[in-house]
Amino acid sequence: MSIQRTQRAALFAALISVFCISANGQASEHEPPRIEPRNDQFATAHADQYHSWKATEESADIEDALAEYPNMVILWAGYGFSKDYNKARGHYYAITDVRQTLRTGSPTDANSGPMPMACWSCKSPDVARLIDERGEDGYFEGKWARLGSEVVNPIGCSDCHSTGSDDFANGKPALALTKPYVERAMTTIGKPFEQQSRFDQQAQVCGQCHVEYYFSGPNKAVKFPWDKGTTVDDMEAYYDEIGFKDWTHGVSKAPMLKAQHPGYETWRAGIHGQNNVTCIDCHMPKVQNADGKVYTDHKIGNPFDRFEDTCAQCHTQDKATMKGIVASRKASVNDMKLRTEKQIVAAHFEAKAAWDAGATEAEMQPILMDIRHAQWRWDYAIASHGIHMHAPEVALRTLGTALDKATDARTKVVRLLATKGITEPVALPDISTKAKAQQALGMDMEKMRREKDNFLSTVVPEWDEQAKVREAGY
Ligand code: HEC
Ligand code: HEC
Ligand code: HEC
Ligand code: HEC
Repeated sequence: MSIQRTQRAALFAALISVFCISANGQASEHEPPRIEPRNDQFATAHADQYHSWKATEESADIEDALAEYPNMVILWAGYGFSKDYNKARGHYYAITDVRQTLRTGSPTDANSGPMPMACWSCKSPDVARLIDERGEDGYFEGKWARLGSEVVNPIGCSDCHSTGSDDFANGKPALALTKPYVERAMTTIGKPFEQQSRFDQQAQVCGQCHVEYYFSGPNKAVKFPWDKGTTVDDMEAYYDEIGFKDWTHGVSKAPMLKAQHPGYETWRAGIHGQNNVTCIDCHMPKVQNADGKVYTDHKIGNPFDRFEDTCAQCHTQDKATMKGIVASRKASVNDMKLRTEKQIVAAHFEAKAAWDAGATEAEMQPILMDIRHAQWRWDYAIASHGIHMHAPEVALRTLGTALDKATDARTKVVRLLATKGITEPVALPDISTKAKAQQALGMDMEKMRREKDNFLSTVVPEWDEQAKVREAGY
């Protein structure tokens, strides 16, 4: 055993010296990557897992969340999400979607943004490959267009597995956290991956991406704001303490936070998380192939689509009953969401009216902090998709506190307006549709769309071509 290992180490060292380092110290072109980013390379060795993974492409529908909830255009005024926000679909589309969304803009060269490299981080196994090859700084520095030709494979095998390990080659799961910043975050909350049970590890692989994170430091590297814990209060306190804001609100000028998708955090707090029923039990059940061999279904989607393999493994109620319970929780969460947004939207416009009436920074500060906290809470509760299933009580409590903060903001701002002689209610513009709300903010959507079309038809094909040449050399 030890001899084998020594031999292997020697062979590995020899390989490194032959292949890896070319004259300029850069990795040579024909070096096969240690982390394989191409999902189809596993199609033969792990056919069941590969084909079920590929079936995530069946979840192809694009649902425009802003068209459904135009209030969100106002809530995200001055920030990318007010341009364009679609609901999540299959993992297969992660690269397509990050290129297509108006949020990422239309870079014309490697340095034109607007987004940082961090934007790719939850889209592709190429990210783990690049961090392995260049280190974290070498990956994160610069704008996202810098490595557009390097990040081309959608979320796949090397995002959740150490695909190079012997265990994986032998058909065992060999789960892995494939990004160092995730390992650090899990260690921060006292759950270092290596020391976790199989179930915790299963949830953690999803928790690489379905989490709250922000872009920190000069390189805008991904960090999870978990130093104080993972609840909505813990993360709010963390952000306040470091004085972080994602952007300044376009209407109220409040220092805003954008919640990403704290699914792992809210699942932990919910009844299933508390009982260590993990994402995998519901989203990746064990099933049988035609030969009766059991494997893990990699078609991550809605667990109700295969009720017998998921919920019914543990519960005796029938599908209609279970769906009914979840649907009624969704309706309650959605109802609270709409009530809360209505208050926050009004607070943004009232704050603007106060600025316009000559309010000072000092007068506005407490109002803007209430708005910041209200919207952070609203966002935490709704941006973690599926929360009505995973932790409905967390959603309702969080929305309750959001509504409370929004009411505080409005009470304060109305008093302030009165001192400026404004006693009439502040009139809101027509924001009844996505287009009207964007118009109210003076956004030139036509121009953005033209530029995006140009980017997709000129820059993106070049990226794909360069990637093809590079990968052909692997
Ligand atoms: C989003 C995370 C994720 C992705 C992406 C992923 N897997 Fe898995 N994989 C898992 C989990 C979770 C398990 C089950 C682990 C367990 O049972 O503890 C698993 C199990 C496996 C196993 C062990 C046998 C089995 O079926 O349980 C193999 C082999 C495997 N995956 C191959 C692949 C291949 C090939 C790809 C890419 C086409 C892939 N996986 C993509 C998470 C992932
Ligand atoms: C590498 C990052 C990453 C990992 C790891 C990951 N996801 Fe995702 N997931 C995403 C992104 C990004 C999307 C949205 C893709 C889109 O809309 O283009 C998504 C979408 C989803 C969806 C919506 C699918 C649909 O068809 O509507 C579900 C459900 C989901 N993920 C569950 C999971 C579970 C469960 C795990 C762990 C087994 C997991 N994800 C691991 C990034 C990730
Ligand atoms: C007890 C079962 C269960 C567990 C555990 C679970 N989920 Fe879910 N999840 C569901 C169900 C069911 C839905 C769909 C709810 C609906 O139809 O309204 C869902 C929805 C989602 C969605 C939204 C999909 C969409 O298209 O909107 C995401 C993302 C997601 N889950 C990720 C996760 C992650 C990540 C974990 C673990 C951290 C997890 N889930 C744990 C059952 C579960
Ligand atoms: C691996 C086992 C397992 C799976 C799979 C599972 N559950 Fe559960 N579920 C539990 C456990 C354990 C509890 C807590 C029971 C208790 O404390 O009495 C629970 C509780 C619940 C509750 C009641 C708690 C509450 O929030 O009021 C509901 C509803 C529920 N599950 C729905 C679902 C649905 C829907 C699915 C499928 C999408 C599902 N579960 C999948 C194990 C599971």
